Amino acid sequence: MFLKLLAASVLFFAWSLPSGCPPVLGKTPLDSTRGLKDYYAKYFPVGVAVSPRALHSDEAALILREFNSMTPENAMKMGPIHPEEGRYFWRDADSIMAYAQRNHLRLRGHNLCWHNQTPAWMFVQDGKPVSKEVLLQRLKDHITAVVNRYKGQIYAWDVVNEAVSDKPDEYLRPSPWLQICGEEYIAKAFQYAHEADPGAQLFYNDYNEISAVKREKIFRLVKGLKEAGVPISGLGLQAHWAVNEPSAPQLDSTLKRFSELGVKLQITELDISVYPKEHNARAARPGDEDTAFSPVKEQKQIEVFKMAFDLFRKYRRNISGVTFWNISDRNSWLDNFPVRGRKDHPLLFDQALQRKRAYAEVTNFQGSGHRAD
Ligand code: XIL
Repeated sequence: MFLKLLAASVLFFAWSLPSGCPPVLGKTPLDSTRGLKDYYAKYFPVGVAVSPRALHSDEAALILREFNSMTPENAMKMGPIHPEEGRYFWRDADSIMAYAQRNHLRLRGHNLCWHNQTPAWMFVQDGKPVSKEVLLQRLKDHITAVVNRYKGQIYAWDVVNEAVSDKPDEYLRPSPWLQICGEEYIAKAFQYAHEADPGAQLFYNDYNEISAVKREKIFRLVKGLKEAGVPISGLGLQAHWAVNEPSAPQLDSTLKRFSELGVKLQITELDISVYPKEHNARAARPGDEDTAFSPVKEQKQIEVFKMAFDLFRKYRRNISGVTFWNISDRNSWLDNFPVRGRKDHPLLFDQALQRKRAYAEVTNFQGSGHRAD
């Protein structure tokens, strides 16, 4: 009896430790044999954005314990993978693909057409702006080559990324794609991808999807593509959120509205910044040096993570994947956006790769098989 009590109190102690504490008796505070992918096995695959470097670091063990899907963070974007006309740089993307295959992880492709991280040569011909015909041909060549290389191995592609404008009175972003080709570049990109791999799921992907105004523009775009018979399978919600947004009603109504589209929904780039949301890069200003992960920030972040996963489970029939953008708070793109060098803490694992308190909140639900379940 005494021994049983002792064992129970040791377990309770281990469970109640805050994240970041060293493992007790060789155990992390939560069951170390199960990960997010296991808690959510009956709901959706849980993914993570990775660099090739991470796969050779101590983060690799965490990836395999927690996730069953990956997205290359940068390696398959047009600039990195197609730096010069007719010359592709496959090494990084290939290594991520091989790792996914060896370890039986799903792979999402990101992305085929975007206004950022586009190679400089793409929009220029003989020193002048490229013509519409040549640009569409280049887009076709690019999509055909990349999709074809990973045919049958990438199960879903973000085909067009962030085509909708953030400005309330503007529908589409006036990117070179739009300015040179007009709106049809979007449908064409989906057609080219479908021709290259008819088995791949094809997504339109965008951010600030929780804004009432932008949400309707995204809705209009996807609905229009579907009605025109364009081979689109789903909508990717980037979910770059923060401690101050979205609210539960805002996210609920967003997921409800997008569910009406009748396409798959995926959360493609989830992170919860500990700073109030800003969508544009800016210079540092006084106050930005306060980057500690304070208990107040942590508590707010826990609430948003919990609320978001409660709603992801509510919309399980529509949501076919949830992917985090980066692995742990050791490295996040938000460390340099919107403010260069301002440390953020937006993920479920801390800088020592330990589960944060928010982890317990998102995995402790009825039916998860969580210890406290
Ligand atoms: C980011 C990467 O995480 C950074 O490493 C890179 O410098 C810039 O792009 N929306 C997207 C992602 O669709 O591709 C972006 O990724 C983050 C915002």
